[in-house]
Amino acid sequence: MRVITTIEEMQDAILHAKKGGQSIGYVPTMGFLHEGHLSLMEKARGENDIVVISIFVNPLQFGPTEDLSSYPRDFERDKELSMQKKVDYIFYPSVEEMYPHPSSVTVKVNARTDVLCGKSRPGHFDGVATVLTKLFHIIQPEKAYFGTKDAQQVAVVEGLVHDFHFPIEIIPVETVRETDGLAKSSRNVNLQTEEREQAPILYQSLLRAKEAIIAGERDPQKVVALITEMVTEKTDGKIDYIEVYSYPMLREMIKLNGKFIIAMAVKFSKARLIDNIILEINEK
Ligand code: PAJ
Repeated sequence: MRVITTIEEMQDAILHAKKGGQSIGYVPTMGFLHEGHLSLMEKARGENDIVVISIFVNPLQFGPTEDLSSYPRDFERDKELSMQKKVDYIFYPSVEEMYPHPSSVTVKVNARTDVLCGKSRPGHFDGVATVLTKLFHIIQPEKAYFGTKDAQQVAVVEGLVHDFHFPIEIIPVETVRETDGLAKSSRNVNLQTEEREQAPILYQSLLRAKEAIIAGERDPQKVVALITEMVTEKTDGKIDYIEVYSYPMLREMIKLNGKFIIAMAVKFSKARLIDNIILEINEK
């Protein structure tokens, strides 16, 4: 495994792999790797000749009051875990390497950002789309792997790849959870002890909603109310949003039918957690 910190060296390695006819699978991350990231890396390993991951905490996708400075980092540990997963290259650029001067062009996402995290984190998906445009150009993968824990991100990236004609297949990978159901996240370490105990309620409330839907509930508002009640009663977290939309278009629904997402974001004292489930009903 090689750690590469410059764009030029990364491009050389990619060129070499491409000349040798090797396929490239790519997993973008912000590091502090956990089993969620590792499952993407495993999947990439199984489907490609060369696996590249990137570790880059992208300042462009953090708002001015967000947790950029407290975002957890541990490169040595990340390196060890990547080695275990048989990654070929870690692309680990500095902020100066990625953004050497004020940018003359950035990417603006127009669709699907007026809801969920796009609404509560203005500019976030523009930052994600801009950094991924750069990273996709540098790494030129055939396949790129994304977790559905960030389901809106998957939808936005699908749009980016489609609209900008990247010859890249986006592979969505299911959310990996702790045994108590909490979605694995680099931010979980920023939960206080009591908050960590309460955090599994998020997923439990989504499962509770799923049960209600299986039992016949079709009103999105009632589903939202049910989750809101459970989270409010059983956690100290502050609800950022609990919303139901069609998936992947993220359009409002009057009555549940087809594929849809129930998604939530809850703010604890030092960590904002997100989770979702995607369900499908096919009724005439
Ligand atoms: P990061 O939060 O580090 O996540 C990297 C990838 O891991 C994303 O595709 C995310 O959806 C996936 N992931 C995170 N937790 C997961 C879990 N519990 N189960 C499965 N997959 C999980 O998402 C980003 O970084 C950034 O926005 C990035 C795409 C790197 C652009 O900067």
